Amino acid sequence: MSDELYDQIQAAAAVIRARHARRPRVALVLGSGLGQLAERFEDATRFDYHELPHFIRATVIGHQGRLVCGRLEGVEVVAMQGRNHGYEGYTQRQVTFPVRVMRALGAEILIVSNAAGGINPYYEQGDVVALDDHINMTFDNPLVGPNDERLGSRWPDMCQPYCPRLIALAQQAGRAADFPVHRGVYLAVRGPNYEPRAEYRFYRQIGADLVGMSTVPEVIVGVHAGMRVLGLSVVTNLCTPEALGKVTGAEVVAVAEKAANRLAAVVCSVLRNLEAA
Ligand code: HPA
Repeated sequence: MSDELYDQIQAAAAVIRARHARRPRVALVLGSGLGQLAERFEDATRFDYHELPHFIRATVIGHQGRLVCGRLEGVEVVAMQGRNHGYEGYTQRQVTFPVRVMRALGAEILIVSNAAGGINPYYEQGDVVALDDHINMTFDNPLVGPNDERLGSRWPDMCQPYCPRLIALAQQAGRAADFPVHRGVYLAVRGPNYEPRAEYRFYRQIGADLVGMSTVPEVIVGVHAGMRVLGLSVVTNLCTPEALGKVTGAEVVAVAEKAANRLAAVVCSVLRNLEAA
């Protein structure tokens, strides 16, 4: 079975390389409402997920379901324009498969973005947060099952999943563009429902600043695969248990789309300054 995963990764990477020979340095996962950035790539090659072996289709709003290779700010990149989630019924192995493929293509840095609920009371709607740690409350793990040492170690260390130098670059980008880039802890749930008040209160008490339904499985795989990781959240709704309003998926996507220019500014600035990282 572990050979099977390795072979599947190689098969998908071969299809991509046959149409796009340049080696990416940075892999991007563009989350809910944040996919637009991939429209700005130069010399781009686009693959619908269904054209790629072993990829699963994106099924939810705000996620285009394309892998885009190209150049952004002079850096060779590969991006997932939309992702899959555990709540769609996929295993975390399936959900993180494209990260494995982007690594196999050569990417050494992983920038993961998402729309998230803001638990930290200092956050405002549309704020950008650089993740400095996470809590996995999905009760699952993408590394469950046989381990292939060619992909990473059986028991990967997780003492610092997010690269401090990349976080510093993200915060520097915010200062330069005059908007806050906070640092925070992202808590991942399986979803798909948004949380009741008692859960938001509980997550706040156990140290979360943000809550969302993605990202952590991809980060675990990125760390397992030896990548340096930057996680960026856009705060789409405020999860104040004492004054909780209704939230819908459409609103989350709409707020993320509005804040996408900030996220794009951070990513572009990080890419421009990569040598300092
Ligand atoms: N909870 C979980 N996931 C989310 C939220 C939330 O409040 N907002 C955006 N994604």
